[in-house]
Amino acid sequence: MSKKPSMEEIVSLAKRRGFIYPGSDIYGGLSGTYDFGPLGVALKQNVKNLWWRMFVSDREDMYGIDAAILMNPKAWEASGHVAGFSDPMVECTNCKARLRADHVEDKNVCPSCGKKGTLGEARQFNMMFSTQVGASEDASARTYLRPETAGGMFVNFKNVIDSFHPKLPFGLAQVGKAFRNEIAPRDFVFRAREFEQMEVEYFVHPERWEAAFEEWHGIMHAFAKAVGIRKEEIHDLEVAPEDRAHYSKRTIDFEFDYPFGRKELWGLAYRTDFDLSAHEATSGVELKYLDEEAKEKVTPHVIEPSLGVERTILAILLSAYDEDELGGEARSVLRLPAVIAPYEVAVFPLLKNKPELVAKAREVFRTLKVAGIRAIFDDNGNIGKRYRRQDEIGTPACVTIDFDTLGEKPELLDTVTLRNRDTGDQQRVNIADLVTALRS
Ligand code: GAP
Repeated sequence: MSKKPSMEEIVSLAKRRGFIYPGSDIYGGLSGTYDFGPLGVALKQNVKNLWWRMFVSDREDMYGIDAAILMNPKAWEASGHVAGFSDPMVECTNCKARLRADHVEDKNVCPSCGKKGTLGEARQFNMMFSTQVGASEDASARTYLRPETAGGMFVNFKNVIDSFHPKLPFGLAQVGKAFRNEIAPRDFVFRAREFEQMEVEYFVHPERWEAAFEEWHGIMHAFAKAVGIRKEEIHDLEVAPEDRAHYSKRTIDFEFDYPFGRKELWGLAYRTDFDLSAHEATSGVELKYLDEEAKEKVTPHVIEPSLGVERTILAILLSAYDEDELGGEARSVLRLPAVIAPYEVAVFPLLKNKPELVAKAREVFRTLKVAGIRAIFDDNGNIGKRYRRQDEIGTPACVTIDFDTLGEKPELLDTVTLRNRDTGDQQRVNIADLVTALRS
């Protein structure tokens, strides 16, 4: 069982090591926005690639989409977001704080200024960011930054059918930005105003939705395991009808044990034919599927696994973080699976000031890069410090080039030490066998 970190420890590590910075940092930040640094970009890209592999490219029934973020506003009217994508908000007449009504414990006391009796009535606040398209400022030019990536897939349902003639069941998948003007962004990247989603809209025959729901449920749990989220920290919550989104007839929330409580990580929803029927009615374009064998037209029903990228990254960091002692020294370590770690291996020359060691280390480094291994070269500080640095960013293996590599002991010519992040164990490996050893 690893050590459970506090949010402060994770936020500090994320900033110090270049995973995640506050958005617009030098201007004092912008609430609810975050910038990913070099290691965060690498981790996020690896997570998205793995998701794409497990949810899309390993299958034969999935089609990728990369839709525009700005969409015709009628799409958001049809989907119900213009009328109903809102949270209850209360305003304090004293300090003017605007708060999520359902986050306020005592309706008589403003949690921001502490005054009694200053909170007004709750009213609904639409969370979509609106913007204008083109130079005109009248209402006809208004559209929205998408609050979910799903919409871009529903409007392309017919395009994909016309281009590819897929058989039911089949799905569309998209990874991209979503925007929500959250009343109270909080808990680091957990509730942000700009974030990314990895979503699937899986179209099924209306009578066969339950089997598809179960299948995607299993795939989501397999993905949690693959990214290293520990089983005991993830919990299914069958969402009660009154708490489900307007489009859903069944939802399972995947909840995670964050330091600030057990809260939603991902969602799996049965969206029925709500979206296709609504877009058909609003656009006037038929969005049905012709089952050629049964000679019938059906409006497919939809199963939607929806995963927020930032919440996934947060859960991964929290699950992977550990502190232990190695060789009598305390260290912090990210036990990231190799498939998502920013680097698979770090390559070191034992000494920075020995050109022959540096040249050989560079040669090994280049060989690994050419083989497609995510490698980093590091010659800064002593070996112990380099190990600690790589442990803290989750690099699973370190390779050191020393004088034996150069043949000081002839029997060790062209061998290196390969050190394991989790155990600290070191073994001597032939350079020619390194790629295989790293991939095993
Ligand atoms: N298309 C369905 C949909 O958007 P959702 O439950 O509203 O459903 C899906 O969002 C996922 O997006 C969530 O489970 C979470 O991972 C992520 N998410 C939602 N709001 C977020 C926010 N404000 N900040 C970060 N991630 C968020």
